[in-house]
Amino acid sequence: MNSKTLTSDLALRGGRPAVAATEPKVEWPILTDADREAVLRVVDRKILWAQTRPEGLYAPEQFALEQEFAAFVGVKHALAVNGGTAGLHMALTAAGVEPGDEVITSAFSFLATPAAILHAGATPVFADIDPRTFNLAPAEIERKITPRTRALMVVDIHGLCADWDPILELARKHDLIVTEDACQAPGATYKGRAAGTFGAAAGFSVNGTKNFAVGEGGFMVTNDDEVRARGNWLKQVGEELPESDRTMAYKHLLAWNYRTQELPCALGRAQLARLRAVNATGQRNARLLGELLQGVPGLRPPYVPEGSVSVYHKYRITLAPEELDTRLRGALLRDAFLQALRAEGVDCDLWGSAPLCAHPMIQARTPRDRADDYPATVAMFANSFCLGSDAHPLYCQPEGLVRAWAEGLRKVAAAAAGL
Ligand SMILES: Cc1ncc(COP(=O)(O)O)c(C=O)c1O
Repeated sequence: MNSKTLTSDLALRGGRPAVAATEPKVEWPILTDADREAVLRVVDRKILWAQTRPEGLYAPEQFALEQEFAAFVGVKHALAVNGGTAGLHMALTAAGVEPGDEVITSAFSFLATPAAILHAGATPVFADIDPRTFNLAPAEIERKITPRTRALMVVDIHGLCADWDPILELARKHDLIVTEDACQAPGATYKGRAAGTFGAAAGFSVNGTKNFAVGEGGFMVTNDDEVRARGNWLKQVGEELPESDRTMAYKHLLAWNYRTQELPCALGRAQLARLRAVNATGQRNARLLGELLQGVPGLRPPYVPEGSVSVYHKYRITLAPEELDTRLRGALLRDAFLQALRAEGVDCDLWGSAPLCAHPMIQARTPRDRADDYPATVAMFANSFCLGSDAHPLYCQPEGLVRAWAEGLRKVAAAAAGL
């Protein structure tokens, strides 16, 4: 602890904020001339969606985006859709999940993950997380397998790939379909393999908060021609497409309208061209924070296992209260910390607050599932918060702001007695 930091230094107690009001800060999403040109290209072309022509469907931005994103992920097929939730539902059903199946997923994700499972007619079964990575703990998955388990929906949370080797081994052993929620992780890798390539199909999101931000939209990706064909069927209300007569085989599949439009697809192409640079900025900032926070008692930066490359969609800091000069514990300490950080001018946020089973929509369906059954997830929520916010995420900030945020963190940790 820095003994020179007094509690009266805290901005909360009248001290000077660690982040000066004049410190340059970047608002997300970044929109450039390239984005403007992309959108105007569509307006000038006057083709707003996939039009049927005698020679087939015509949607130049959409089809190019699908190819470019497939190449980015390193998969054979990408289908552009109107949301990540849509992409997840398509991935599950196209990969073979059917009504009545159980699908094991993480207790820690966005509500869209279990909602997509319910939309597939299946039942979400939650498993607890690894307290270090916040991703599914393989041993917890195994504990939840029953004769009705048909599939896994594995989340790569906060831009860090799940622990895929043992998970894929489990899936092989129990003959389970593997699907992936890579909504937060385009560009992340695990032992050299890219997020979105581990299962039969994966979903991605490009909503406005993501490193790859279009506003609303998403993808289903797959290496499997059959899964791609079923996914395309599911994208179009089950309507037969001119492109393939094989879709006749899927007439039984109930589908929504998940189609996208040319304007967001054109914008998506411009944003995708910058995604590697955005991810690299997040990685540079995370590296810098790792150095600046090293040895600061009470603060644990996110853990990235060897062999994994995170894209830091969220930068979750865990508090170690026993190292801080305070008797506050759990959510009380976390909330006091957030309040003090915000007074210092540091952007910070909670992302989620309880295991997914606690959500009323899930409770209405599986009332016996209790939050206490997921102790690692409960402890993570109580003892951690995310640095940065939807409007000011870490992955687009200049170095000066990151240094000022680190100073705010160090200051609040050192003066924890004043919280
Ligand atoms: C982990 C996760 N899954 C699913 C989704 C759903 O994506 P969308 O909001 O594009 O439907 C999101 C994004 O919000 C997410 O973060």
